[in-house]
Amino acid sequence: SNADTTVRNKSLMFALMHKVQELPPMFVEAEDQRPVLEMEAKASDMIPIVDLSLLNSDDPAVRNALVADIAEACEKFGFFQVMNHGVEESLIRRCEAEAHTMFELPLEVKERVHRPPQTSFGYGANTWVNQTVMHWAESFHMQLYPKSNIREFSSKLFAESDPTKFSSTVEEYMAKIETLARQLLELLTEGLGLEPTLFNHYVEQERMMSMRFNLYPPCPQPDLAIGLRAHTDPHLLTILHQDEIAGLQVHIDDQWITVKPRPNCFVVNVGDLFQVLSNTKYKSVLHRAAVNGTSKRLSLACFLNPPLSATVEAPPELITPERPQVYRPFTWGEYLSNAYKFHPATGGERHERF
Ligand code: SIN
Ligand code: FE2
Repeated sequence: SNADTTVRNKSLMFALMHKVQELPPMFVEAEDQRPVLEMEAKASDMIPIVDLSLLNSDDPAVRNALVADIAEACEKFGFFQVMNHGVEESLIRRCEAEAHTMFELPLEVKERVHRPPQTSFGYGANTWVNQTVMHWAESFHMQLYPKSNIREFSSKLFAESDPTKFSSTVEEYMAKIETLARQLLELLTEGLGLEPTLFNHYVEQERMMSMRFNLYPPCPQPDLAIGLRAHTDPHLLTILHQDEIAGLQVHIDDQWITVKPRPNCFVVNVGDLFQVLSNTKYKSVLHRAAVNGTSKRLSLACFLNPPLSATVEAPPELITPERPQVYRPFTWGEYLSNAYKFHPATGGERHERF
């Protein structure tokens, strides 16, 4: 309920403002969900970085090698990073600055756009179904379309100052990320040995880009808390920007690998829908966000989605006697409601297998 998110927001703000020395019990995670920071603090370069400027090479072998590297990373890790991605560094910095300005607003102001639980618009604590322990994070969810969404949020949040600065910067950032996401969609599709544009119909309609700003404040007992619990992303693709503070951890070979922050790169990951489209060749991999005791951390996550009515199904080219169709066809709308119900944090099975 609305009252419930307000209570959660207020508890988080209270803990932050009063600079508590001890983590309030509502943030103490179950032992098997804790990040074990001593062992895992060392940030890793295991997640491959690919250079997208190689797409401009005159040598087709260079381009093919890039596509093969991306496909290999999607098969092995479900994650890769991109550099020379075409999104200007200054735009990333401006969007980060706007996100910080927004999170620094007083709680009463942020609650003008508060997000009801399990919905994807507005400001609030990140809560999941059946989750009793709170994430140590504030977050703000938005969709790029229709544009009036962000403008409306912005005019409520910045009514006393300049409402267009936040909305125009965020829109500009998301539009650039959308271009990148469409380019990556084609590269990943090509990496499956398919016509690069085969899945473009999934993202031809509007309303397919959404975004979450995450702010993880310094935590008094970071080894007991979690910023965002282990999960897979339900969407097609995620394009994440993390600032210079480490926190993103990916589950690889039964270990939690901390992705070394590279502020000029984006971290890209395969979502559940792409795993389904690829007939499980690409993997949608568990990841989470750890928190730390000293520095606040900001991440900007953008998600590429099909329309809710789109039927998601692996193409016949990827269905063979050796690899029969793994998932029954379903719509994104159907999946989204199940994804909330069967979130891995609740111990449930996510994917709708045959
Ligand atoms: C996410 O999984 O969406 C966010 C992870 C992060 O903050 O690095
Ligand atoms: Fe995620």
